[in-house]
Amino acid sequence: MAEPLLQLSGVHTHIGPYHILHGVDFAIPAGQLTMLLGRNGAGKTTTLRTIMGLWQASSGAIRFDGQDITKNSTPNIARAGIGYVPESMAIFTDLTVRENIVLAARSGPVDSARLDWMLGLFPALKRFWNLPAGNLSGGQKQMLAIARAIAEPRRLLLIDEPTKGLAPVMVRSMIEAFKALKAAGETILLVEQNFYAASALGDNVIVMDDGRIVHSGAMREMVEDKNLQQRLLGLSLDAHQ
Ligand SMILES: Nc1ncnc2c1ncn2[C@@H]1O[C@H](COP(=O)(O)OP(=O)(O)OP(=O)(O)O)[C@@H](O)[C@H]1O
Ligand SMILES: [Mg+2]
Repeated sequence: MAEPLLQLSGVHTHIGPYHILHGVDFAIPAGQLTMLLGRNGAGKTTTLRTIMGLWQASSGAIRFDGQDITKNSTPNIARAGIGYVPESMAIFTDLTVRENIVLAARSGPVDSARLDWMLGLFPALKRFWNLPAGNLSGGQKQMLAIARAIAEPRRLLLIDEPTKGLAPVMVRSMIEAFKALKAAGETILLVEQNFYAASALGDNVIVMDDGRIVHSGAMREMVEDKNLQQRLLGLSLDAHQ
């Protein structure tokens, strides 16, 4: 089997005096969408922040594309091709949608084919192109944050709860956009609490609890196995959304 694009091995993270991640192991295969599930406080955001170098792993190893990135700085990890969309969307509300996207492409102007592709994923952004991003709805702001993350080609996208607090119609648009990202061959690690979105999109699923991985496997296997769901749903998912 080919080496996974991202591999965490025995990763521990401390935040100040608190021991948050307790030996996290998982692998992200290239070209697939992997769901990271787990109840509030399980350690999902801490895992993404540790991959990005925003928290330093206290032990264990993180390998990306064959390189050990465990001790790399956040800018170097971003430069290696990992895009990160945090829970609180990273956008500039005073700048227009266009300016937000232009600024996100650090290596020069976004080429027009890429721009057309991005605006095809998120048509609402086209409508508000020259308006301050502060005018967008919560869901549209989330879409702009994702569009910023893909303004440049990325090897891997880490996206933290993009459907949180969104109305069902917005969740459906977000699912469509992720389906298109998958079809374009992007590799994505997506934190999600909404079972409907998770089961519609995931190729693979990882479940965390209490700073540990308690399950990893194919999403289809989890959708088909009611016993497994019962065991994990309470740990991981809002099954009612
Ligand atoms: N800056 C911090 N200082 C102290 N403890 C923290 C800090 N950030 C997170 N934690 C703790 O680490 C644990 C994991 O938090 P984390 O944010 O990773 O969980 P999560 O799975 O993303 O939860 P949620 O679904 O609510 O976003 C929690 O117990 C949390 O209180
Ligand atoms: Mg979180």
